[in-house]
Amino acid sequence: MDQFEIDGGVPLHGEVRVSGAKNAALPILAASILADGPCRFERIPDLRDIRTMLRILAELGVRSERLDDGTIVTEVVDTDRVCAPYELVKTMRASICVLGPLLGRRRRAEVSFPGGCVIGPRPVDLHLTGLEALGVSIEVGGGYIAGDAAALRGGGELYLGGPFGPTVTGTANVLSAAVLAPGTTVIQSAACEPEIVDLAHFLVAMGARIEGIGSPTLVIRGVERLRGTSWRVIPDRIEAGTLLCAGAMTGGDVTVRGADPTAMTAPLVLLQRMGVVVERVEDDGLRVRAGGRPRPVDVVTLPYPGFPTDLQAQFMALLCVADGNSFVTEKIYPERFIHVAELQRMGARIRKEGPTAIVQGVERLSGAPVMASDLRASAALVIAGLAAEGRTTVERVYHIDRGYERIEEKLGALGARIRRTDPARQEAAQAEG
Ligand code: EPZ
Repeated sequence: MDQFEIDGGVPLHGEVRVSGAKNAALPILAASILADGPCRFERIPDLRDIRTMLRILAELGVRSERLDDGTIVTEVVDTDRVCAPYELVKTMRASICVLGPLLGRRRRAEVSFPGGCVIGPRPVDLHLTGLEALGVSIEVGGGYIAGDAAALRGGGELYLGGPFGPTVTGTANVLSAAVLAPGTTVIQSAACEPEIVDLAHFLVAMGARIEGIGSPTLVIRGVERLRGTSWRVIPDRIEAGTLLCAGAMTGGDVTVRGADPTAMTAPLVLLQRMGVVVERVEDDGLRVRAGGRPRPVDVVTLPYPGFPTDLQAQFMALLCVADGNSFVTEKIYPERFIHVAELQRMGARIRKEGPTAIVQGVERLSGAPVMASDLRASAALVIAGLAAEGRTTVERVYHIDRGYERIEEKLGALGARIRRTDPARQEAAQAEG
């Protein structure tokens, strides 16, 4: 199993290009099920989660090919297949994104129920009630969600808000079914995340009729069919934020090319409050320059345009070396604090009280062996390792490979001393030698 060895303490310098947004690419690829005709996608990151989605699509009769220039071309070749099996869905919760497109286009779906998750309970009840409002009958049994959409129709007004705000992939699912449902659907409390906006614009490019894109109220007028189209996925705001944190935490000067500052207001404002110099670079990116230890700030994760939960762990890493105490409150996934114990192993002073972590800044973290346990927690540990004194080994980096494209190459190009190793392979080679 691969791990990263990081020799910390080197300020990062230089330029790096952000990849396409994983969380936009996943529902958008799933929505290619809706197309009559081929779709071409640019800026889809080459990630484990994307490869999983393409395998699920293959199971569902959607052929795909990645061309030499990175473009992915998809084409529906078999519309009879409607089952997303457990073996694939269990490896990625976002597999649930095929449910809405299958019901919209094929009027039937059998999707394995997504399993547990280390970042806390992640129910799909809102997806299901939203789809039921469109006339879909849903049965859950044997670990599968079976949907019959023979009576699919516009759902009138339906509400997608839950106890922690709107649901992102739930909005993607209901939207992707409603675009082919005869009549009008009004989704209230729709997620406004840029990834959902990108999906909605993609659906419109296919011929869908959607008003209110980017707002909590989406008005959808069902159309009879959707055509294939070409689409360029938005840049990944979470990867960009992670790279900016790495630049700031190592006391460096990093420019992230291709990042979209308009999608990142909350994290950028927080960086500035910490005393990090943040500049826009000529229509094509963002530059951060650190000036000494960050000032403490309070972070509260919220639905967009609030501060994203997917950057909570990385900002906590940065606050571990702030000049004072910070409060980090998680309002989307109150249990998403698995990184805390690992950061503590690196000398961080963090106390957890319910959904809040109180972070008492220390001057420096020290390198240690740590364990990655989910995607963003792993990113936080890598950032912490880059800034820490001495060597950090981050085990189980397959988590990070789910969502960050060539992360060690990108960080290496900025001067980081990071390398990927496989201890099992090394041991075997030593035994042979
Ligand atoms: C999406 O997950 C993202 N995944 C997550 O990114 C992200 O953390 C999350 O949105 C929040 O921004 C993708 O886009 C593929 P939700 P999703 O439904 O859609 C509760 C990453 O690191 N809820 O918006 O599954 C839920 O428990 C990942 O890239 C219900 O109660 O999240 C949570 O508290 C991890 N009932 C809140 O709503 C439901 O039916 C928001 O979840 C659905 C959700």
